[in-house]
Amino acid sequence: MKLNPQKLIRAAAKARLNSVSPYSKFKVGAALLTKAGEIISGANVESASYGLTCCAERIALFKALTDGKKNFIATAVVARCDGGPMPCGACRQLLREYAPDAQVFVADSDDLKSVKAFTVRDLLPSAFVIVP
Ligand code: THU
Repeated sequence: MKLNPQKLIRAAAKARLNSVSPYSKFKVGAALLTKAGEIISGANVESASYGLTCCAERIALFKALTDGKKNFIATAVVARCDGGPMPCGACRQLLREYAPDAQVFVADSDDLKSVKAFTVRDLLPSAFVIVP
C-alpha cells in the first residue's frame, strides 16, 4: 500500500466539516489508513456535559475498530490551528494500543500542504500496557 499523506490529510479535512463542536467551535477531523488501503474518518463530537466530548482521533479509531478494520499504517489529524493539532494524551494512548506502528500526520486546515509527521511511539513513549 503506497502511503499518500496528502490524500489522508484531505480525508481528515473533509471529515472535519462534520465536527459536532457547538461549545468549543474547534473542529477537528481525523482519518486512518489501513494496510489494505481503506480510509476511515471521523470528527470530534461534544456534549453539554463537556467531559463526555470525544476527540476526532478516537471517533475515527472506534469507527474503524468496530467495523472490523485493523492494521493501521497511518493517521491524519486536521484542525484550524497553527502547525496542526497534536493528538491529546488520551488519543495517544488509544493509538498506541490499536495503531502502534502508524505514522501520524498533522496539518492546519488553512495550510494542508504543510504536514508534520510523527510516529505513535514518538508521541507516547513508555505507554501504559497490560500484558495479558
Ligand atoms: N480535540 C480533538 O478532537 N482532538 C484532540 O487531539 C484534542 C482536542 C477536540 C475535543 C474538543 O471537541 C475540542 O477539540 C476542543 O478541545
